[in-house]
Amino acid sequence: MITDSPRSDPLEKSVLDNLITAVLLFDNDLCLEYINPAAEMMFQVTSRHVIGQKVGTLMPWSRSAMEQRLRDVFKSHHPFTEREVIIPLSGDRTIKVNCTVLPLHHSDAPTEALVELCQVDRQLRITREEHLISQHQATQALIRGLAHEIKNPLGGLRGAAQLLEGELPSSSLREYTRIIIDEADRLQNLMDRMLGPNHIPKEQSINIHQVLEHVRGLLLAENAAGPVIIRDYDPSIPDLKADPDRLIQAMLNLCRNAVAAAGPRGRVELRTRVLRQFTIGNRRHRLVLRVTVDDNGEGIAPDLLDRIFLPMVSGYRGGTGLGLPIAQELINQHGGLIECESRPGKTQFFVYLPLESSHD
Ligand SMILES: Nc1ncnc2c1ncn2[C@@H]1O[C@H](COP(=O)(O)OP(=O)(O)OP(=O)(O)O)[C@@H](O)[C@H]1O
Ligand SMILES: [Mg+2]
Repeated sequence: MITDSPRSDPLEKSVLDNLITAVLLFDNDLCLEYINPAAEMMFQVTSRHVIGQKVGTLMPWSRSAMEQRLRDVFKSHHPFTEREVIIPLSGDRTIKVNCTVLPLHHSDAPTEALVELCQVDRQLRITREEHLISQHQATQALIRGLAHEIKNPLGGLRGAAQLLEGELPSSSLREYTRIIIDEADRLQNLMDRMLGPNHIPKEQSINIHQVLEHVRGLLLAENAAGPVIIRDYDPSIPDLKADPDRLIQAMLNLCRNAVAAAGPRGRVELRTRVLRQFTIGNRRHRLVLRVTVDDNGEGIAPDLLDRIFLPMVSGYRGGTGLGLPIAQELINQHGGLIECESRPGKTQFFVYLPLESSHD
Protein backbone atom coordinates (compact mmCIF):
# COMPACT_ATOMS: atom_id res chain seq x y z
CA MET A 1 0.00 0.00 0.00
CA ILE A 2 1.53 3.33 -0.98
CA THR A 3 0.03 5.26 1.94
CA ASP A 4 1.38 3.04 4.69
CA SER A 5 4.08 0.91 3.11
CA PRO A 6 7.77 1.56 3.75
CA ARG A 7 8.21 2.71 0.12
CA SER A 8 5.80 5.61 0.58
CA ASP A 9 8.26 8.39 1.23
CA PRO A 10 6.75 11.87 1.77
CA LEU A 11 7.81 13.10 -1.67
CA GLU A 12 6.15 10.16 -3.42
CA LYS A 13 2.97 10.74 -1.45
CA SER A 14 2.88 14.49 -2.00
CA VAL A 15 3.44 14.03 -5.76
CA LEU A 16 0.61 11.49 -5.99
CA ASP A 17 -1.67 13.56 -3.78
CA ASN A 18 -1.27 16.61 -5.98
CA LEU A 19 -1.63 15.01 -9.39
CA ILE A 20 -4.64 16.07 -11.45
CA THR A 21 -4.64 12.59 -12.98
CA ALA A 22 -6.61 9.94 -11.11
CA VAL A 23 -4.33 7.12 -9.94
CA LEU A 24 -5.40 3.76 -8.47
CA LEU A 25 -3.29 0.77 -7.49
CA PHE A 26 -4.66 -2.79 -7.51
CA ASP A 27 -3.06 -6.00 -6.23
CA ASN A 28 -3.17 -9.21 -8.25
CA ASP A 29 -6.46 -10.21 -6.56
CA LEU A 30 -7.83 -7.04 -8.20
CA CYS A 31 -8.34 -5.38 -4.79
CA LEU A 32 -7.69 -1.66 -4.38
CA GLU A 33 -4.47 -0.83 -2.52
CA TYR A 34 -4.24 2.90 -3.06
CA ILE A 35 -6.35 5.73 -4.47
CA ASN A 36 -5.10 9.31 -4.85
CA PRO A 37 -7.23 12.41 -4.08
CA ALA A 38 -7.91 13.08 -7.80
CA ALA A 39 -9.41 9.59 -8.13
CA GLU A 40 -11.38 10.01 -4.87
CA MET A 41 -12.76 13.20 -6.37
CA MET A 42 -13.58 11.50 -9.67
CA PHE A 43 -15.46 8.60 -8.06
CA GLN A 44 -16.84 10.71 -5.18
CA VAL A 45 -15.46 8.27 -2.57
CA THR A 46 -13.01 8.46 0.33
CA SER A 47 -10.01 6.13 0.43
CA ARG A 48 -10.99 4.95 3.94
CA HIS A 49 -14.16 3.39 2.54
CA VAL A 50 -12.81 1.83 -0.63
CA ILE A 51 -9.32 0.47 0.15
CA GLY A 52 -9.52 -3.32 -0.11
CA GLN A 53 -12.56 -3.29 -2.39
CA LYS A 54 -12.61 -5.35 -5.57
CA VAL A 55 -12.36 -3.39 -8.81
CA GLY A 56 -15.89 -4.47 -9.77
CA THR A 57 -17.35 -2.97 -6.57
CA LEU A 58 -15.53 0.30 -7.07
CA MET A 59 -16.41 0.60 -10.75
CA PRO A 60 -19.70 -1.32 -11.10
CA TRP A 61 -20.44 0.38 -14.45
CA SER A 62 -17.38 -1.20 -15.97
CA ARG A 63 -17.16 -4.35 -13.85
CA SER A 64 -16.25 -6.90 -16.52
CA ALA A 65 -14.32 -4.50 -18.79
CA MET A 66 -12.06 -3.19 -16.03
CA GLU A 67 -11.53 -6.65 -14.50
CA GLN A 68 -10.55 -7.92 -17.92
CA ARG A 69 -8.12 -5.04 -18.50
CA LEU A 70 -6.37 -5.75 -15.20
CA ARG A 71 -6.26 -9.53 -15.75
CA ASP A 72 -4.79 -9.01 -19.23
CA VAL A 73 -2.06 -6.79 -17.82
CA PHE A 74 -1.18 -9.26 -15.05
CA LYS A 75 -1.06 -12.02 -17.67
CA SER A 76 0.74 -10.25 -20.51
CA HIS A 77 3.03 -8.08 -18.30
CA HIS A 78 2.43 -5.30 -20.86
CA PRO A 79 0.88 -1.89 -20.27
CA PHE A 80 -2.33 -1.09 -21.98
CA THR A 81 -4.17 2.14 -22.92
CA GLU A 82 -7.76 2.62 -23.91
CA ARG A 83 -8.83 6.03 -25.17
CA GLU A 84 -12.00 7.99 -24.51
CA VAL A 85 -13.62 5.63 -22.01
CA ILE A 86 -16.93 7.09 -20.79
CA ILE A 87 -17.37 6.97 -17.01
CA PRO A 88 -20.85 7.59 -15.58
CA LEU A 89 -20.93 9.79 -12.47
CA SER A 90 -23.61 10.55 -9.93
CA GLY A 91 -26.68 12.27 -11.37
CA ASP A 92 -26.63 11.75 -15.10
CA ARG A 93 -23.21 13.29 -15.71
CA THR A 94 -20.44 11.44 -17.48
CA ILE A 95 -16.76 12.12 -18.02
CA LYS A 96 -14.43 10.93 -20.76
CA VAL A 97 -11.02 9.55 -19.76
CA ASN A 98 -7.99 7.92 -21.30
CA CYS A 99 -7.34 4.81 -19.22
CA THR A 100 -3.83 3.36 -18.87
CA VAL A 101 -3.08 0.19 -16.92
CA LEU A 102 0.59 -0.43 -16.04
CA PRO A 103 2.01 -3.60 -14.47
CA LEU A 104 4.34 -2.93 -11.52
CA HIS A 105 7.14 -5.46 -11.13
CA HIS A 106 8.83 -6.12 -7.84
CA SER A 107 9.97 -9.59 -8.95
CA ASP A 108 9.47 -11.47 -12.22
CA ALA A 109 5.69 -11.35 -12.38
CA PRO A 110 3.78 -8.13 -11.77
CA THR A 111 2.27 -7.99 -8.30
CA GLU A 112 0.41 -4.76 -8.71
CA ALA A 113 -1.27 -2.82 -11.49
CA LEU A 114 -1.36 0.96 -11.66
CA VAL A 115 -4.47 2.47 -13.26
CA GLU A 116 -4.23 6.03 -14.54
CA LEU A 117 -7.38 7.84 -15.61
CA CYS A 118 -6.71 11.09 -17.42
CA GLN A 119 -9.77 13.22 -18.04
CA VAL A 120 -9.79 14.33 -21.65
CA ASP A 121 -12.93 16.43 -21.58
CA ARG A 122 -11.35 18.42 -18.73
CA GLN A 123 -8.86 19.91 -21.19
CA LEU A 124 -11.72 20.91 -23.47
CA ARG A 125 -13.53 22.45 -20.51
CA ILE A 126 -10.49 24.56 -19.56
CA THR A 127 -10.14 25.82 -23.13
CA ARG A 128 -13.85 26.66 -23.24
CA GLU A 129 -13.63 28.48 -19.91
CA GLU A 130 -10.62 30.51 -20.99
CA HIS A 131 -12.62 31.52 -24.05
CA LEU A 132 -15.61 32.44 -21.86
CA ILE A 133 -13.43 34.59 -19.59
CA SER A 134 -11.67 36.41 -22.43
CA GLN A 135 -14.98 36.95 -24.23
CA HIS A 136 -16.43 38.38 -21.02
CA GLN A 137 -13.44 40.69 -20.45
CA ALA A 138 -13.67 42.01 -24.02
CA THR A 139 -17.39 42.70 -23.61
CA GLN A 140 -16.88 44.48 -20.30
CA ALA A 141 -14.20 46.71 -21.85
CA LEU A 142 -16.53 47.55 -24.75
CA ILE A 143 -19.41 48.32 -22.37
CA ARG A 144 -17.26 50.59 -20.20
CA GLY A 145 -16.03 52.48 -23.25
CA LEU A 146 -19.51 52.85 -24.71
CA ALA A 147 -21.10 53.79 -21.40
CA HIS A 148 -18.55 56.56 -20.92
CA GLU A 149 -19.28 57.93 -24.42
CA ILE A 150 -23.04 57.76 -23.96
CA LYS A 151 -23.49 58.89 -20.36
CA ASN A 152 -21.79 62.28 -20.66
CA PRO A 153 -23.76 63.65 -23.64
CA LEU A 154 -26.88 62.03 -22.23
CA GLY A 155 -26.53 64.08 -19.05
CA GLY A 156 -26.21 67.22 -21.19
CA LEU A 157 -29.25 66.32 -23.29
CA ARG A 158 -31.37 65.65 -20.22
CA GLY A 159 -30.30 68.90 -18.54
CA ALA A 160 -31.05 70.95 -21.68
CA ALA A 161 -34.48 69.32 -22.04
CA GLN A 162 -35.25 70.16 -18.42
CA LEU A 163 -34.29 73.82 -18.94
CA LEU A 164 -36.36 73.94 -22.10
CA GLU A 165 -39.31 72.41 -20.27
CA GLY A 166 -39.28 75.30 -17.83
CA GLU A 167 -39.36 77.83 -20.69
CA LEU A 168 -42.13 76.24 -22.74
CA PRO A 169 -45.47 78.06 -22.58
CA SER A 170 -47.92 75.20 -23.19
CA SER A 171 -48.28 71.77 -21.56
CA SER A 172 -48.75 70.10 -24.97
CA LEU A 173 -45.21 71.25 -25.93
CA ARG A 174 -43.89 70.09 -22.56
CA GLU A 175 -45.00 66.56 -23.49
CA TYR A 176 -42.16 66.48 -26.01
CA THR A 177 -39.53 67.48 -23.49
CA ARG A 178 -41.00 64.89 -21.07
CA ILE A 179 -40.40 62.22 -23.71
CA ILE A 180 -36.77 63.33 -24.08
CA ILE A 181 -36.25 63.28 -20.30
CA ASP A 182 -37.95 59.89 -19.80
CA GLU A 183 -36.04 58.27 -22.64
CA ALA A 184 -32.75 59.74 -21.37
CA ASP A 185 -33.54 58.26 -17.92
CA ARG A 186 -34.35 54.87 -19.44
CA LEU A 187 -31.04 54.87 -21.32
CA GLN A 188 -29.19 55.99 -18.18
CA ASN A 189 -30.72 53.08 -16.20
CA LEU A 190 -29.80 50.63 -18.93
CA MET A 191 -26.19 51.88 -18.92
CA ASP A 192 -26.04 51.65 -15.13
CA ARG A 193 -27.33 48.05 -15.22
CA MET A 194 -24.80 47.17 -17.89
CA LEU A 195 -21.96 48.63 -15.86
CA GLY A 196 -23.04 46.74 -12.74
CA PRO A 197 -22.70 47.93 -9.14
CA ASN A 198 -20.28 50.81 -8.69
CA HIS A 199 -19.79 50.68 -4.94
CA ILE A 200 -16.75 48.98 -3.45
CA PRO A 201 -17.55 45.32 -2.76
CA LYS A 202 -18.33 44.66 0.91
CA GLU A 203 -16.65 41.33 1.45
CA GLN A 204 -17.59 39.34 4.49
CA SER A 205 -17.57 35.77 5.61
CA ILE A 206 -20.88 34.21 4.56
CA ASN A 207 -22.38 30.84 4.05
CA ILE A 208 -23.65 30.16 0.55
CA HIS A 209 -26.83 28.62 1.96
CA GLN A 210 -27.79 31.93 3.58
CA VAL A 211 -27.55 33.50 0.13
CA LEU A 212 -29.55 30.70 -1.52
CA GLU A 213 -32.24 30.70 1.16
CA HIS A 214 -32.65 34.45 0.72
CA VAL A 215 -32.97 34.01 -3.06
CA ARG A 216 -35.37 31.10 -2.60
CA GLY A 217 -37.55 33.25 -0.31
CA LEU A 218 -37.73 35.99 -2.94
CA LEU A 219 -38.55 33.50 -5.70
CA LEU A 220 -41.32 31.88 -3.66
CA ALA A 221 -42.82 35.30 -2.95
CA GLU A 222 -42.65 36.27 -6.63
CA ASN A 223 -44.00 32.95 -7.94
CA ALA A 224 -46.59 31.64 -5.51
CA ALA A 225 -48.10 29.35 -8.18
CA GLY A 226 -44.86 27.43 -8.78
CA PRO A 227 -42.53 25.95 -9.95
CA VAL A 228 -41.42 23.85 -6.99
CA ILE A 229 -37.96 24.84 -5.78
CA ILE A 230 -36.03 21.87 -4.46
CA ARG A 231 -32.92 22.20 -2.27
CA ASP A 232 -30.04 19.77 -2.24
CA TYR A 233 -27.44 21.42 -0.03
CA ASP A 234 -24.19 20.02 1.29
CA PRO A 235 -24.26 21.35 4.87
CA SER A 236 -20.51 20.83 5.35
CA ILE A 237 -19.59 23.62 2.91
CA PRO A 238 -17.36 26.17 4.67
CA ASP A 239 -18.07 29.91 4.60
CA LEU A 240 -16.65 31.99 1.79
CA LYS A 241 -15.42 35.59 1.61
CA ALA A 242 -17.80 37.47 -0.66
CA ASP A 243 -20.10 40.43 -1.05
CA PRO A 244 -23.51 38.95 -0.13
CA ASP A 245 -25.48 41.52 -2.17
CA ARG A 246 -23.54 40.66 -5.32
CA LEU A 247 -23.94 36.94 -4.81
CA ILE A 248 -27.67 37.38 -4.18
CA GLN A 249 -27.98 39.44 -7.38
CA ALA A 250 -26.05 36.87 -9.45
CA MET A 251 -28.03 33.90 -8.09
CA LEU A 252 -31.29 35.76 -8.51
CA ASN A 253 -30.55 36.45 -12.17
CA LEU A 254 -29.90 32.74 -12.81
CA CYS A 255 -32.85 31.57 -10.74
CA ARG A 256 -35.32 33.98 -12.31
CA ASN A 257 -34.43 32.59 -15.72
CA ALA A 258 -34.80 29.04 -14.41
CA VAL A 259 -38.17 29.80 -12.82
CA ALA A 260 -39.42 31.41 -16.03
CA ALA A 261 -38.17 28.47 -18.12
CA ALA A 262 -39.64 25.81 -15.80
CA GLY A 263 -43.06 27.49 -15.62
CA PRO A 264 -45.58 27.10 -12.77
CA ARG A 265 -45.75 23.31 -13.09
CA GLY A 266 -42.04 22.81 -13.49
CA ARG A 267 -39.18 22.10 -11.13
CA VAL A 268 -36.10 24.11 -10.21
CA GLU A 269 -33.34 22.62 -8.10
CA LEU A 270 -30.61 24.41 -6.17
CA ARG A 271 -27.65 22.16 -5.43
CA THR A 272 -24.37 22.87 -3.59
CA ARG A 273 -21.22 20.79 -3.61
CA VAL A 274 -17.52 21.17 -2.79
CA LEU A 275 -14.95 20.21 -5.42
CA ARG A 276 -11.33 19.53 -4.54
CA GLN A 277 -8.34 20.45 -6.70
CA PHE A 278 -10.54 22.11 -9.28
CA THR A 279 -9.48 24.44 -12.08
CA ILE A 280 -11.43 27.60 -12.87
CA GLY A 281 -10.20 29.09 -16.13
CA ASN A 282 -6.49 28.41 -15.85
CA ARG A 283 -6.22 28.66 -12.05
CA ARG A 284 -6.26 25.58 -9.93
CA HIS A 285 -7.88 25.81 -6.51
CA ARG A 286 -7.73 23.47 -3.56
CA LEU A 287 -11.40 23.91 -2.72
CA VAL A 288 -14.13 25.20 -4.99
CA LEU A 289 -17.81 25.66 -4.29
CA ARG A 290 -20.21 24.63 -7.06
CA VAL A 291 -23.79 25.87 -6.99
CA THR A 292 -26.02 24.31 -9.63
CA VAL A 293 -29.28 25.88 -10.73
CA ASP A 294 -31.14 23.17 -12.55
CA ASP A 295 -34.51 23.46 -14.30
CA ASN A 296 -36.67 21.15 -16.37
CA GLY A 297 -37.82 23.79 -18.86
CA GLU A 298 -37.53 23.41 -22.59
CA GLY A 299 -33.84 24.31 -22.69
CA ILE A 300 -31.79 26.89 -24.56
CA ALA A 301 -31.74 26.76 -28.34
CA PRO A 302 -28.30 25.55 -29.55
CA ASP A 303 -27.73 28.70 -31.64
CA LEU A 304 -28.34 30.85 -28.54
CA LEU A 305 -26.29 28.75 -26.11
CA ASP A 306 -22.91 30.13 -27.22
CA ARG A 307 -24.06 33.72 -26.84
CA ILE A 308 -26.17 33.83 -23.69
CA PHE A 309 -23.46 35.51 -21.61
CA LEU A 310 -23.20 38.39 -24.08
CA PRO A 311 -25.15 41.54 -23.24
CA MET A 312 -28.46 42.21 -25.02
CA VAL A 313 -28.85 38.59 -26.11
CA SER A 314 -32.31 37.41 -25.16
CA GLY A 315 -34.61 34.63 -26.25
CA TYR A 316 -37.63 36.29 -24.60
CA ARG A 317 -39.67 39.01 -26.11
CA GLY A 318 -39.10 42.07 -23.97
CA GLY A 319 -36.07 40.53 -22.22
CA THR A 320 -33.16 42.95 -21.90
CA GLY A 321 -30.59 40.15 -22.12
CA LEU A 322 -28.58 41.56 -19.21
CA GLY A 323 -29.29 39.05 -16.44
CA LEU A 324 -26.60 36.54 -17.40
CA PRO A 325 -23.74 38.93 -18.34
CA ILE A 326 -24.31 40.78 -15.05
CA ALA A 327 -24.31 37.50 -13.10
CA GLN A 328 -21.12 36.43 -14.91
CA GLU A 329 -19.44 39.74 -14.05
CA LEU A 330 -20.45 39.52 -10.37
CA ILE A 331 -19.16 35.96 -10.07
CA ASN A 332 -15.94 36.86 -11.97
CA GLN A 333 -15.34 39.61 -9.41
CA HIS A 334 -15.12 36.82 -6.80
CA GLY A 335 -12.62 34.83 -8.86
CA GLY A 336 -15.37 32.49 -10.07
CA LEU A 337 -17.12 31.52 -13.27
CA ILE A 338 -20.59 30.54 -14.49
CA GLU A 339 -21.04 27.80 -17.08
CA CYS A 340 -24.10 26.40 -18.72
CA GLU A 341 -25.21 23.07 -20.15
CA SER A 342 -28.61 22.71 -21.72
CA ARG A 343 -30.78 20.23 -23.53
CA PRO A 344 -34.56 20.01 -23.72
CA GLY A 345 -35.88 19.19 -20.25
CA LYS A 346 -32.62 19.91 -18.45
CA THR A 347 -30.80 23.22 -18.21
CA GLN A 348 -28.01 23.58 -15.69
CA PHE A 349 -26.09 26.68 -14.71
CA PHE A 350 -22.95 25.92 -12.70
CA VAL A 351 -21.53 28.68 -10.51
CA TYR A 352 -17.94 27.96 -9.47
CA LEU A 353 -16.47 30.00 -6.61
CA PRO A 354 -13.05 29.47 -5.01
CA LEU A 355 -13.40 28.86 -1.29
CA GLU A 356 -9.90 29.40 -0.07
CA SER A 357 -9.23 33.12 -0.60
CA SER A 358 -10.89 36.41 -1.39
CA HIS A 359 -10.54 38.15 -4.74
CA ASP A 360 -10.88 41.67 -6.05
N1 LIG B 1 -32.84 28.42 -17.59
C1 LIG B 1 -33.03 28.81 -18.86
N2 LIG B 1 -33.79 28.09 -19.71
C2 LIG B 1 -33.97 28.48 -20.97
N3 LIG B 1 -33.42 29.58 -21.52
C3 LIG B 1 -32.65 30.33 -20.73
C4 LIG B 1 -32.39 30.00 -19.37
N4 LIG B 1 -31.57 30.94 -18.85
C5 LIG B 1 -31.30 31.82 -19.84
N5 LIG B 1 -31.95 31.47 -20.96
C6 LIG B 1 -31.87 32.16 -22.27
O1 LIG B 1 -30.79 33.08 -22.21
C7 LIG B 1 -31.26 34.39 -22.54
C8 LIG B 1 -30.41 35.42 -21.82
O2 LIG B 1 -30.73 35.44 -20.45
P1 LIG B 1 -30.55 36.78 -19.62
O3 LIG B 1 -30.94 36.51 -18.21
O4 LIG B 1 -29.18 37.32 -19.87
O5 LIG B 1 -31.56 37.79 -20.32
P2 LIG B 1 -33.16 37.85 -20.21
O6 LIG B 1 -33.66 36.92 -19.15
O7 LIG B 1 -33.69 37.67 -21.58
O8 LIG B 1 -33.41 39.36 -19.77
P3 LIG B 1 -33.12 40.01 -18.32
O9 LIG B 1 -32.10 41.07 -18.57
O10 LIG B 1 -34.42 40.54 -17.89
O11 LIG B 1 -32.60 38.94 -17.41
C9 LIG B 1 -32.71 34.36 -22.15
O12 LIG B 1 -33.43 35.35 -22.88
C10 LIG B 1 -33.13 32.96 -22.53
O13 LIG B 1 -33.39 32.88 -23.92
MG1 LIG C 1 -32.87 36.92 -17.24
